[in-house]
Amino acid sequence: MIAVQQLNMQFGIKGQLEFREDISGLIVAEISNQQASASLCLQGAHLMTWKPRSQAMPVIWLSRDAKLAAGKSIRGGAPVCWPWFGPHASEPAFPGHGYARTVPWEVVESGTEPGGETRLTLRLTDSEKTRAQWPHDCTLDLTVIVGETLRMLLSTKNTGASDFVIGEALHTYFQIGDIGAVRVIGLAGCDYWDKVGGSTLRKQDGAISFSGETDRVYINTAAKCVIEDERLKRRIHVAKSGSLSTVVWTPWTEKASKMGDMGQPDGWREMVCVESVNAMENVVKVAAGAKHTMTVEYRAELI
Ligand code: BG6
Repeated sequence: MIAVQQLNMQFGIKGQLEFREDISGLIVAEISNQQASASLCLQGAHLMTWKPRSQAMPVIWLSRDAKLAAGKSIRGGAPVCWPWFGPHASEPAFPGHGYARTVPWEVVESGTEPGGETRLTLRLTDSEKTRAQWPHDCTLDLTVIVGETLRMLLSTKNTGASDFVIGEALHTYFQIGDIGAVRVIGLAGCDYWDKVGGSTLRKQDGAISFSGETDRVYINTAAKCVIEDERLKRRIHVAKSGSLSTVVWTPWTEKASKMGDMGQPDGWREMVCVESVNAMENVVKVAAGAKHTMTVEYRAELI
């Protein structure tokens, strides 16, 4: 039996969750319930879209040039960066942001929450291929709970006999009206590594607004953030746990044009990344046999 039929028999939920094969050959889970719709690619456990019924516009941005292809990360959505964030510390040939976002995951569970939200859990288990880049025994689970609020839980279980250290991110791209008309509130007073033009430690003064390339790793912060969007007249609330870094990123004109998949001519203006992360001084040591979980919770309100 072909994989997609098997998945639908085992994990499909009538009227709520269906698996389909994309023309790329990758499998996508389509979720639709009374509260929201969403889609998730099994490669990378990559949530691509999420739109609560209360919103005319999606809350998560997917580039109009996003391509689904085996072994390639999808531009937009919520990439899972793991087990390192950014470039690998010593191996420049290893993939940026780790390998989790470009390898197939398996579906392990699905269901309906008491409030009517749809739940789906995917798993990445270590293999010969993953151990070639990261030699540890572990299980990584992503649970996505789709409703008027979106919840994601990323759990790393150390199944080996020695401790290891991970960097990680739920690298979410949020849909906005225009990058020049949003503010990110919640990080005032936090220290951040400013990655534009070198790496300098600075302190955030007030809310963040955008007038050029922005690539910042805020450290030692569990703060909630709000993306205030004048153009779409809405606020997106970003809450998290198990994460002490927050990355705020927008590429701006030059970098976006070099990236080639941001949606021509200026798709990048309609996104901002507010990423829940553990990076730099906040990487996490997971002891042998222990489990570490990072969670995020997103909701949007009109203003
Ligand atoms: C952000 C990084 O998290 O991701 C940026 O801080 C990077 O430096 C961006 O450019 C996008 O990364 P990628 O690998 O998806 O192009």
